[in-house]
Amino acid sequence: MEKFIVMGGNRLTGEIAVNGAKNAILPIMAASLITKGKSTLFNVPIIQDVLVMQKVMEYLGAKVVLDGNMMYIDSEDVKPRDIHESLMRQLRASNLVIGSLITRFRKIKVAFPGGCNIGSRPMDLHIKGLLAMGAKITERYGYIEAEATNLHGCDILLDFPSVGATENLMMAGVLAEGTTIIRNAAREPEIIDLQNYLNALGAKVRGAGLDTIKVEGVKELGTSVEHTIIPDRIEAGTHMIAAAITGGDVLIDKVITDHLEPISAKLMEAGVEVIKYDDSIRVKASNRVKAVDFKTLPFPGFPTDMQPQMMAMMTVADGTSIVSESIFENRFKHIDELRRMGANIKLEGRVAIIKGVPSLSGAFVEATDLRAGAALVLAGLVAEDATVIEKVEYIDRGYERLESKYSSLGARIIRVNNSRNGS
Ligand code: UD1
Repeated sequence: MEKFIVMGGNRLTGEIAVNGAKNAILPIMAASLITKGKSTLFNVPIIQDVLVMQKVMEYLGAKVVLDGNMMYIDSEDVKPRDIHESLMRQLRASNLVIGSLITRFRKIKVAFPGGCNIGSRPMDLHIKGLLAMGAKITERYGYIEAEATNLHGCDILLDFPSVGATENLMMAGVLAEGTTIIRNAAREPEIIDLQNYLNALGAKVRGAGLDTIKVEGVKELGTSVEHTIIPDRIEAGTHMIAAAITGGDVLIDKVITDHLEPISAKLMEAGVEVIKYDDSIRVKASNRVKAVDFKTLPFPGFPTDMQPQMMAMMTVADGTSIVSESIFENRFKHIDELRRMGANIKLEGRVAIIKGVPSLSGAFVEATDLRAGAALVLAGLVAEDATVIEKVEYIDRGYERLESKYSSLGARIIRVNNSRNGS
């Protein structure tokens, strides 16, 4: 158990680079199980979620080697073993092995997945799609069991553009008979990255990034592929807010600026200067930011994964902002923690009303999930005195050594071990 101690008050200045996207590497690792071949992945973020996914894959028989930010995967000896609860509950994205294993082995049995505590995260859209593709599915004793001797393409209309369901059904279609059409598909950039990886492997997928994706089933895939993971737009967005909230000036490197558009637009509305270059973005703020309203939506709307961080900034903005969370019904656990630091936030159903205060004060707070934890770090950067953030393991699920990155920009933030002997 580790915690962060943040002494607020320093402006962040300088340059940092963004790692590969968590939400791209996880589905691509799952997709690598479809082939009997080898994958070499570059720009892999060394974060806890990746290490847990590695454990799931090794349990299934894959050989996975991490060498710096490079990952080698050999999936030849993978077997469709039952995946028990203790593995599945560590990571929501472990559900993405369903699509790849069903298409390769035509059967799978996995426990219901876990993940961040941000609301109920059902699997009904994944299951409906697989049923339409000819799978027989049983849900009992906490397990999903699927068998599909005749896995075939079909026309699927998702009730909601779920990221995970889109990815699972894309993967399921890769070795299915005929063409799978996914309508009202999620359009997130990470889905395009998955398409690019699958196609490099010999799959026939097109349409990712639009709302209809077509997967033409192939008989077999290639035996080796190299792929570079796209930059993490949520990590980049978090750094953009770190610069803005501290009145800083930071150049954030290795980004795709188009992916950051929903975040840049809101920051500019809040009076922050955002300068876009080819593959970097500079964020400069000299005055107190202005309050802005926002609502989370599927891409290209404002991302739910940036809601807690943006809300942290609104707690010290000039004016009142209204934040609506339309993706996850329970993604407001950070509010109680921000209130401990002096934030003025009223919650009415899925809408939070935030009256900006002139300053926050340091307090003992707890990261309740990944992005809630990031929001507390951001609040700590501007709070008076020290903020102690417990349960840093949540933050480590999605950020590679966040404290080192912010220290390099001038923040005073350290990681300490909670154990009594201080070891
Ligand atoms: C992915 C991201 C996560 C992000 C989320 C929304 C990964 C590894 N995780 O999660 O960081 O916050 O997209 O952008 O990429 N839903 C159903 N039934 C289903 C599936 C989903 O009702 O079968 C609902 C969920 O409860 C939720 C909403 O759809 O309210 C969005 O979920 P989804 O897009 O599937 O998110 P994930 O893929 O789990």
